[in-house]
Amino acid sequence: MSPSVRKAVFPVAGLGTRFLPATKAAPKEMLPVVDKPLIQYAVEEAYSAGVRHMIFVTGRSKRAIEDHFDTAYELETELEQANKQELLALVQSVQPEDMVCAYVRQPRSLGLGHAVLMAEPLVGREPFAVLLADDLMVGQPGGPSVLAQMVAAYAQQGRSILAVQEVPAEQVRRYGIVAGEPAGRQLLRVEQIVEKPAPENAPSRMGVAGRYILTPGIFDEIRNQPTGVGGEIQLTDAIARLMRQEAVYAFEYQGKRYDCGSKEGFLQATVELALQHPQVGEDFRNYLRGLRL
Ligand code: G1P
Repeated sequence: MSPSVRKAVFPVAGLGTRFLPATKAAPKEMLPVVDKPLIQYAVEEAYSAGVRHMIFVTGRSKRAIEDHFDTAYELETELEQANKQELLALVQSVQPEDMVCAYVRQPRSLGLGHAVLMAEPLVGREPFAVLLADDLMVGQPGGPSVLAQMVAAYAQQGRSILAVQEVPAEQVRRYGIVAGEPAGRQLLRVEQIVEKPAPENAPSRMGVAGRYILTPGIFDEIRNQPTGVGGEIQLTDAIARLMRQEAVYAFEYQGKRYDCGSKEGFLQATVELALQHPQVGEDFRNYLRGLRL
């Protein structure tokens, strides 16, 4: 049986230049969609998939993330004294007791592959997940989260699994693009993967979304790898090398991805999640109906 996926890596050292000036002093991963920061959606997704050990690859000016997943002593004391039990429970639910958070710094922005390598001492030699908080993933209503679906696929295959979705031809240069052979329900065995190709060079339109389950052999590949597209150490290139040693699968998940690394995607997530929100959803729907668009 494949070892279970116990650890997740969250690369959160990026600068978030697309959201300046909001991200001048605040981490982009702390931008809220309705009432929860982006990073919390990703952590909750990992937790729902059975992961309990969260590893953040962080950087300067990202302290708010550590504080978010820690006890907020003054706030909790005040809520307790004011007998605001519901709010207290909400605040405390951010870090369930059986969840462990660890932090490692990426001192320079050398790329996603490099960020993942920074987590190696905390991951060790076991399979692990990588979640990019910019990609907000919502499973189907009542169904498992995207990472939970991937963990189930990993339990079957015992090999690295990449979340993929079809993307428009004019957007392939924003993604890692895979091509491969069908290998069962929702699965492709990857034969080719390229980072951000020009549309005319793309082997397909299957783009990698920001969810990965990787076997620990990936660390050896990243360590021995030259820089790639954009002068960065690309995770995609390391996956291409890993494929020479062992099978890698692409997984067509069920659910919806919001690209919250872009303003448009962030706004779409905000509107759609607000419409589903138990407290504000209905009023917000009525408000939108009344807008003359
Ligand atoms: C990263 C990866 C890319 C992947 C994308 C998903 O790119 O390098 O392969 O398709 O995330 O969001 P980034 O968006 O960080 O440029």
